[in-house]
Amino acid sequence: EKQGFRHFMLKEIHEQPSVVRTCLEVYFNPDWQRKSTKPVNLNLSSELTDDLENIQIVACGTSWHASLVGKYLLEQIAEIPTFVQYASEYRYSPSPIMANTMTIGVTQSGETADTLAALGMERQRRSRLDKPYRPRIVGISNRPESTLGGMVDQLINTYAGIEIGVAATKTFVAQVMAFYVLALDLAWQRKTISPERIDQILAGLLQLPTQIEKILQTEEGKIEDLAHNFPETRDFVFLGRGINFPIALEGALKLKEISYIHAEGYPAGEMKHGPIALLDAHVPVVAIAMGGSVYEKVISNAQEAKARDARLIGIVPQSYDDEVFHDILNVPEVEELLSPILAVIPLQLLSYYIASLRGLDVDQPRNLAKSVTVE
Ligand code: F6R
Repeated sequence: EKQGFRHFMLKEIHEQPSVVRTCLEVYFNPDWQRKSTKPVNLNLSSELTDDLENIQIVACGTSWHASLVGKYLLEQIAEIPTFVQYASEYRYSPSPIMANTMTIGVTQSGETADTLAALGMERQRRSRLDKPYRPRIVGISNRPESTLGGMVDQLINTYAGIEIGVAATKTFVAQVMAFYVLALDLAWQRKTISPERIDQILAGLLQLPTQIEKILQTEEGKIEDLAHNFPETRDFVFLGRGINFPIALEGALKLKEISYIHAEGYPAGEMKHGPIALLDAHVPVVAIAMGGSVYEKVISNAQEAKARDARLIGIVPQSYDDEVFHDILNVPEVEELLSPILAVIPLQLLSYYIASLRGLDVDQPRNLAKSVTVE
């Protein structure tokens, strides 16, 4: 069942090209322009999308990170103000009720207690008003048959296939893909981007599966070698900006949960406001420098870290100037909007190989369960 891989996590990392391919096949309409139909087959009911003004998202853990990428896409492509909340926080201090708001619960298992409770609370408090607001509750999940599936007005299935490793990998990528689908659907409905731009984004998305395959082919051996350098390392810092800030958080979470190394994900520009005090030769820094609007800024933030003797690992597109880094993990060059799905792959592999070299139980890390049904 592990199909020759040492762990389920590694198998699931390698399944990601096919997960993205499935999403593209299920949801995208490749010749939408010629047939003058929608670019995306999501079939969201108009009850959910008419007069929509805001989106709020509730999630936990890795699903919360996928939601932060989703916020970027929904705001930048579809121009809808989007708020991402930890489900466990939202339940006890919800924002004031806003009209015309869609609430999305993102949970791969569909069973996370806090996420389900936050959605249930949202439906209730909307219906209790004198003039009730339509709840518009949507779920994004890998398990349509879950409890979540039964409580939402519409479910977006992520089709990643069952994930056994406790650390989420392919389900994260599938959730991010679901947000591309949703953002493009809403952008098309609201005409916030041109058909040419939709074409361009679709063409880019269609390249992702082969680009992920390429990373797995060219970087995996390098990452395994690199992982040998950290037998005693106790702390790691991950830096990213813009759409890749959530990827820095995700890289840090993966490392923490399976290798038990303390790791922090930070928006690169925030380093100098405190955390830079942590840095010295014993704290490696991983900088996600994927090109686009924030590239120069990330490089200069990385330089600041290097000046504190930190070992600097760069996630960088091929062909970019990368002299600042001690170690380079290359990914294919893509536009910024599409970069998170590529940037996360080397980070998953890095945490996998560091944990596996430490002889840890990668698929069943201590203290963790695959779905968290306690509050
Ligand atoms: C991280 C991880 C957890 C889950 C979180 C939410 O690898 O697995 O952080 O992402 O417990 O789980 P779901 O998505 O099932 O709600």
